[in-house]
Amino acid sequence: MSRRRRIYEGKAKILYEGPEAGTLVQFFKDDATAFNKKKHEILDGKGVLNNRISEYIFTHLNRIGIPTHFIKRMNMREQLIKQVDIIPLEVVVRNIAAGSIAKRLGLEDGEVLPRSIIEFYYKADELDDPMVSEEHITAFGWATPAEIDDIMTLAIRVNDFLSGLFLGVGIQLVDFKIELGRHWENDVMRIIVADEISPDSCRLWDAKTKKKLDKDRFRQDLDGMLDAYREVADRLGLLHENEPPRGKGPVLVKTD
Ligand code: TMP
Ligand code: ASP
Repeated sequence: MSRRRRIYEGKAKILYEGPEAGTLVQFFKDDATAFNKKKHEILDGKGVLNNRISEYIFTHLNRIGIPTHFIKRMNMREQLIKQVDIIPLEVVVRNIAAGSIAKRLGLEDGEVLPRSIIEFYYKADELDDPMVSEEHITAFGWATPAEIDDIMTLAIRVNDFLSGLFLGVGIQLVDFKIELGRHWENDVMRIIVADEISPDSCRLWDAKTKKKLDKDRFRQDLDGMLDAYREVADRLGLLHENEPPRGKGPVLVKTD
């Protein structure tokens, strides 16, 4: 496949050395995993869809001044990204109760939360990514208080952007996870959004029917995960880009 030096292999992606210093190539695999890889399957074409969906989201985040690691998509499965030092946190933003918060706090799935809630998880597969507080993050030096402020501001901006983007195509953004990295431009360090944003890392429900259009289909043994990812890509206008009259861009869906 590639003779580039492999820097890191995760559950869903591989990072290779990039063509220039300070860049990497992010390769999207077809592996679907859940519960820290206790469930694992290869779903043909998932990597291609996530590469495309994540490209679309990161391109628009860059355009509205939310800095990300994304430079450009190179081919069906690879994108060129800026090399960052990943902060060892998974940052989750929730708008609607589902998944672990529903279980932990005894909330009804689908209950609108009193406000968007940000949670931090320590990225450590061997510990199953435990939830941590700002106290843990600063005490163990994973991020400073000022960095936590930046991360929270970025997370809320991403939430606002994604909520609007998806609502416009008839999809409710229930929650999502982002990862962040430190990036140096000359001598100035800033925190930027890294990794991917795709139906692997978001909960997306059809706004009318509440049908799950995300990785919960795989986690919960529902069928049609790839069709659901394709549906998300299609609603964002990403599936028929080379067919002229339909044009580019999201397809507006009226929700009521
Ligand atoms: P949770 O409800 O299982 O804590 O998940 C919250 C959000 O984070 C959901 O959109 C799925 C996403 N997520 C990941 O991207 N990676 C993970 O390892 C986990 C547990 C959740
Ligand atoms: N990403 C985790 C895994 O691969 C868990 C999840 O997304 O549910 O196991």
